[in-house]
Amino acid sequence: MSEKEGGGQEVSRRDFLANAAMTVGLVATMGTAGVYGVRYLVPKAKVKKFVDVLVTNLKELTPGVAREFIDATGRKGILVNNNGKVKAFSKICTHLGCEVEWHQLKKEFYCPCHEGFFDADGKNIKGPPPRPLDEFKVTVKDDNIYVALEEV
Ligand code: FES
Repeated sequence: MSEKEGGGQEVSRRDFLANAAMTVGLVATMGTAGVYGVRYLVPKAKVKKFVDVLVTNLKELTPGVAREFIDATGRKGILVNNNGKVKAFSKICTHLGCEVEWHQLKKEFYCPCHEGFFDADGKNIKGPPPRPLDEFKVTVKDDNIYVALEEV
């Protein structure tokens, strides 16, 4: 660098290029660090895959009858035929996680831990459960009943 008339400094071409290269390098480093920082703080969401699993058929699941099942991840479910409407729910109560039971005569789910009740559509109707039971997708094909379960 050299002194310019009027007290300012004149920047040599070499210094200018060195400063420009350093600035570009700094910006690239900060950008890369920013991208990795965001990836660290916001991990990729795992995409769940589901597969239709044959659980039973309509001859065995007559109206009013329920049947329990378990998926490959260990989650317990319950399949119920409510007057021809076949639905599948998680057995886990939405209050504090106890297992619900199906009452065939009352046509409702009951949680014995804190007297929670759900109707045949899984809707919380009485007691402390704050929301409906989790539901599985059900498909009936040729009288066979398939439940969409998470692939492991
Ligand atoms: S855990 Fe089911 S009502 Fe509390």
